[in-house]
Amino acid sequence: MTSQKTDTELDITTLADRTANWRERLKEHQHRLDSDPSEVLSVEGRLTRMVGLTLEAVGFQAPIGSRCEVQGAGGKPIEAEVVGFSGEILYLMPTGDIRGLVPNARVRPIRSDSQVPVGDALLGRVVDGACKPLDGKGPLRVKDSMPLHGKLVNPLVRAPVRQHLDVGVQAINALLSVGRGQRMGLFAGSGVGKSVLLGMMTRYTEADVIVVGLIGERGREVKEFIEDILGEEGLSRAVVVASPADNSPLMRLHGAMLATSIAEYFRDQGKQVLLLMDSLTRYAQAQREIALAIGEPPATKGYPPSVFSLLPQLVERAGNGSEGGGAITAIYTVLTEGDDQQDPVADAARAILDGHIVLSRQLAESGLYPAIDVEASISRVMPQIVDENHLEQAQYFKQMYSTYRQNQDLINVGAYAAGSDPKIDDAIAMFPSLQNLIKQSMNQAVDWQQSVDNLTTTMQQPSSQIFGSLQTPTVLHQG
Ligand SMILES: Nc1ncnc2c1ncn2[C@@H]1O[C@H](COP(=O)(O)OP(=O)(O)OP(=O)(O)O)[C@@H](O)[C@H]1O
Ligand SMILES: [Mg+2]
Repeated sequence: MTSQKTDTELDITTLADRTANWRERLKEHQHRLDSDPSEVLSVEGRLTRMVGLTLEAVGFQAPIGSRCEVQGAGGKPIEAEVVGFSGEILYLMPTGDIRGLVPNARVRPIRSDSQVPVGDALLGRVVDGACKPLDGKGPLRVKDSMPLHGKLVNPLVRAPVRQHLDVGVQAINALLSVGRGQRMGLFAGSGVGKSVLLGMMTRYTEADVIVVGLIGERGREVKEFIEDILGEEGLSRAVVVASPADNSPLMRLHGAMLATSIAEYFRDQGKQVLLLMDSLTRYAQAQREIALAIGEPPATKGYPPSVFSLLPQLVERAGNGSEGGGAITAIYTVLTEGDDQQDPVADAARAILDGHIVLSRQLAESGLYPAIDVEASISRVMPQIVDENHLEQAQYFKQMYSTYRQNQDLINVGAYAAGSDPKIDDAIAMFPSLQNLIKQSMNQAVDWQQSVDNLTTTMQQPSSQIFGSLQTPTVLHQG
């Protein structure tokens, strides 16, 4: 008898060996998986195309909003975010400099959460759109985190706006009162004084914490804002997120969201937060750049529809928290390109904000600062936050001011004969003091009480009684 194995026996032995082998290897993998899952589960793809700032990658899957690392020349990693996909292709948008990218570069997902580090240690710091310190004061020592895209707040839980906020600007306190938890817009063309007025409100508004988002504006203004407007004392209770115009569109977008997340963090701690964003238009433009780059069709003035859904997502995050909790009072500057009040971003912003302060180029050119166009501006929460007396005086002011402005051309050329219309006569007599109420030097604050008193004094002028045409509200004469 030979002990030679049959073919079947041979197959069984090989199979047993192989199974043992596989078991051994699986055990090894299990061990590696237990110790560091990311190392084992890393999937890689490659870069296939790059057009403008859009990168196209294939070979792996990653959710929208997740971060990837692209291996640049010499192993330099470049971070990018997944912003869209088509079939098997993922569209990525770099967060920083893209020099050094090569065809077929390796791309691997690095994280999919979009949490940002937050904490009290942020106070007094200046960070970029990725929350990295820009001020050279060392690393941020913060332990908490907040979602970059915010948490949805149940609208029924939000406390209504009921309390006025002293912003230190007389025309706003008296005529366009801002409430705690209100979201206001400062609308103007370029160079009319948005940033200066925002700076005044930063300096003079009472708030526990000030969060400033300098988004897509001039890099020069960042240092100026910190040194000249905030100053040492102001900065100690402020957080500045700076993502100027030369940052990538993604960074600018994230800068605005980060500033809002930081404001939410302090609001959730019960603090009164003042959130200032210069500017909302640059935020919309950053989204326009991204959306157009990944192929979304433009709608109005080159802005794709996603811009108009992203604006309310950002703005709705500000406002009051639950009853008795903190509040984010937000002020956004909005650039009305070419002084066009119907600019699509301005129009969308006006519809979602709780009020707008419009600055007029004509007033600025005549040297009347702050150049607030009282006729075109409105605070939608004013009736809920001021007493009836104050509201009626403000409305009376607007009537007189508007009467004068509508007839200004006639008056200036001497075509108006005094006495023809008692209402206009009143307006002419009162106009200098109406203008005085708006005028204010940028280095001077007028507190709430003083503003209300000055409004009362202005509106109680004898002129209206001389002609007796316009019914002076009876409530004007306070006891
Ligand atoms: N209250 C003020 N008092 C005196 N001058 C002012 C005042 N506000 C603005 N200005 C003048 O107007 C200039 C432009 O103001 P500012 O930078 O605030 O404009 P802007 O609307 O923010 O412009 P941009 O859209 O280009 O950012 C200032 O440099 C200053 O000279
Ligand atoms: Mg500006």
